[in-house]
Amino acid sequence: MILENDLLVRASLGKQTERSPVWLMRQAGRILPEYRKVRERAGDFKVMVKTPELAAEVTIQPVNILKVDAAIIFSDILVIPEAMGLNYEMEENKGPVFPRRIASLADLNSLHISESEELNYVHDAIRLTKKELNGKVPLIGFAGAPWTIFSYMVEGRGSKTFSQAKKMLYTQPEFSHKLLNMITQSTINYLKGQIKAGADLIQIFDSWAGILSPEQYATFSLKYIRQICDAIGDVPKIVFAKGAFFARPEMNDLNCQVIGLDWNMGIHESRSLMPTKVLQGNLDPCALYGSLDDVKRETRQMLDAFGPYKHIANLGHGLYPDIEVDKVKCFIDTVKQYSAAKR
Ligand code: CP3
Repeated sequence: MILENDLLVRASLGKQTERSPVWLMRQAGRILPEYRKVRERAGDFKVMVKTPELAAEVTIQPVNILKVDAAIIFSDILVIPEAMGLNYEMEENKGPVFPRRIASLADLNSLHISESEELNYVHDAIRLTKKELNGKVPLIGFAGAPWTIFSYMVEGRGSKTFSQAKKMLYTQPEFSHKLLNMITQSTINYLKGQIKAGADLIQIFDSWAGILSPEQYATFSLKYIRQICDAIGDVPKIVFAKGAFFARPEMNDLNCQVIGLDWNMGIHESRSLMPTKVLQGNLDPCALYGSLDDVKRETRQMLDAFGPYKHIANLGHGLYPDIEVDKVKCFIDTVKQYSAAKR
């Protein structure tokens, strides 16, 4: 299908575009009253994720309401552990919880490498969303990086330190590699399924990259991200590793087109460390708590630092639920106007 607005696809391939494309991590979510309505109607987060009609509806909401240049499929990175045999629950105001966690070899042996078909509900949601978008903007598919998925499976819930997951790396490295390998293979199957279903780009989220040392990061995370990037072709790939400022030289060698930056990563420094990549990001979501004038100023400053090309405007991490929609719209409109005027 020909895309009406293919700015994101062209920019991610390094082409010079008439303005910078813009989308936001967590654009489909609680900041929108329209999302909260669907969420209430569905009752449960997982019902939304597993019902293609509902997933498609909230995926498309930010395209129509915020006028972003891409949709990202409504799902969660934790569908992978579930497909491998480790069920998760999303607790209201608490986040994800695993009733059972991975601690022993017996736990590991209860898991399997998931096939693409085991996540058909996501692929069906992608197919339906593509149909309903009707070429308006590209659709981004995604998965968690193996290390981030591993941390939730071992920890059993969110954590400030993920000390149980890190303990596993220090005390049982072989066991850790076995689990990371299984997650990697499952993720490759899953992403191939997403691309077959119509995802126009994919993003890998390594949300907990920043808690590892550079050595551990190379051994237990980047190695597996590299395997995924090498196994996935056909569409542009974005790697977002939150907090992994130390791994930027290595990330420049990944088989992907785009690297996402968080707000701790200096823009000029990132350009010189990753000269071959298109960069995405990186405004601190908290900047959107400022006044409309503040938001405009911060957004322009960010655009000036990135320069006109090889940039996809985004935040440095996901939107927080209490950020006002008007501020989000101001960020998006400023990117569109200011980046077009600067060409
Ligand atoms: O708009 C989008 O970005 C697409 C949808 C999306 C969700 N989760 C929906 C969601 C995406 C891309 C994710 C990825 C995800 N999920 C990550 C990686 C990105 C990141 O933020 O670092 C992680 C770590 C998770 C795991 C997860 N899911 C947590 C820790 C939480 C609880 C925190 C929170 O925001 O409540 C979730 C829940 C979740 N995933 C929500 C949404 C919209 C909120 C649930 C709700 O509606 O109550």
